[in-house]
Amino acid sequence: MAINAPEGTRDLLPDEALFWERFKRTAADVFGRYGYVPIDTPIIEQTELFVRGIGEATDVVSKEMFTAISGANLAKLLDGEKLKAKSRLSLRPEGTAGTVRAVVQHDLVPQGAPPAKLMYAGPMFRAERPQKGRYRQFNQVGIECLGADDPTIDAEAIVMLMRFYAKMGMPAGAMRLLVNSMGCEKCRPAYRDAVRAYMEQHEGELCEDCRRRMDMNPLRAFDCKVPGCAQAMADAPKITDHLCDECLDHYGRVKALLCDAGVEYEEDPTLVRGLDYYTRTVFEVQVADGLGSQSAIGGGGRYDKLAEEVGGRPTPGFGFALGYERTMLALQEAGIAFPDARKVELFVACATDDVRDAAFRLAQECRDAGIATELDHQGRSLKSQFKLADKLRARFVVVLGPDELSQGLAKVRNMSSHEEQLVGIGEVPAVLKNAGL
Ligand code: HAM
Repeated sequence: MAINAPEGTRDLLPDEALFWERFKRTAADVFGRYGYVPIDTPIIEQTELFVRGIGEATDVVSKEMFTAISGANLAKLLDGEKLKAKSRLSLRPEGTAGTVRAVVQHDLVPQGAPPAKLMYAGPMFRAERPQKGRYRQFNQVGIECLGADDPTIDAEAIVMLMRFYAKMGMPAGAMRLLVNSMGCEKCRPAYRDAVRAYMEQHEGELCEDCRRRMDMNPLRAFDCKVPGCAQAMADAPKITDHLCDECLDHYGRVKALLCDAGVEYEEDPTLVRGLDYYTRTVFEVQVADGLGSQSAIGGGGRYDKLAEEVGGRPTPGFGFALGYERTMLALQEAGIAFPDARKVELFVACATDDVRDAAFRLAQECRDAGIATELDHQGRSLKSQFKLADKLRARFVVVLGPDELSQGLAKVRNMSSHEEQLVGIGEVPAVLKNAGL
């Protein structure tokens, strides 16, 4: 029986793989203008990093991590030995924890240094129930800025993300930008207590999960997809009524800067996000159509305590990640097509079999001159070679025939104007370059 890709994973076939390359290039181009430089961290990290960084009580950590055990460790485990913490490894469910770990480990933000502006792109892994727009291996492009808590960092990054979507061709009207502030260690505990007290009064209306999480993580109930919970939580206390003066001021500045940049947003005081590291600004970009409940194409926020959580000195941070697959589905919904992966400018055709070596040589010379060139590898007739050249959308075909070749000549045919000219075989690359290839 044929073996298929694992459930919840996707092959990026050539047209899409090419689109993913363009996606990453566009991100690097846009984010580079804001000072972001690449970082590439391991796909696998110590499980402990995610437990401490993202939070043990989050769905991502408690239910969705792929935890890996190497062969040697598995043997020890089967022998009844306990695994050391550093032998417990997990596939990264997101990129922030690993990036912050690298910043701390390599001291990328020494005292007095400007903020480290980092960007990454690559696969993330979450053992979620697969459906359209929700995969177990998916790609993110993300940025993290460490070392500054100024609201200009938050606003700049959100503006930059919206510029990226625009550059990819996403219509502004197809997206909603939701913003909120999660407060800080000073104001959030009292708010959390207020939400818990509210939930206790409405316990009968809440699902089992929310009732269970009420003590540890009551704010998660705002994220619950069970209709009864959403209804019950609609009248719960709002964080924005509980922010301390500093958080209120920070949030106000972020919103003012977004307004100033002409970026439209909606305030959503129930936006809490699914990861525990956030403080102050959080945001999400959602699309209206086509993705059902998987409507968030990107999101992020501020995490001023995360560096300390993973053992570093206090280093404020802000970042976001956008989901490539969901953004791609939304772009397709908006009518943006994949580019065609086949890129052939020139086809070298053989009139007879005895010129094949010369065709092989000429194709090589043309490629060395920078022209994307293809030739027949299956012994096709000349007619069928022309058909193939058409299919590959070659702009020119060079035909080698024994008579012309004996005089050192080749026939160059422009496939759109159908003009033909005989040129010296050594001149073919130059003639084609002159013609714009
Ligand atoms: P997140 O909201 O969990 O944030 O993920 C960011 C984006 O990744 C989502 O908006 C969504 O488009 C995509 N995504 C998440 N899970 C899946 C999935 N199972 N299948 C397909 N796409 C998915 C983070 O990951 C944070 N690290 C963002 C961040 C960076 N916050 C601060 N810095």
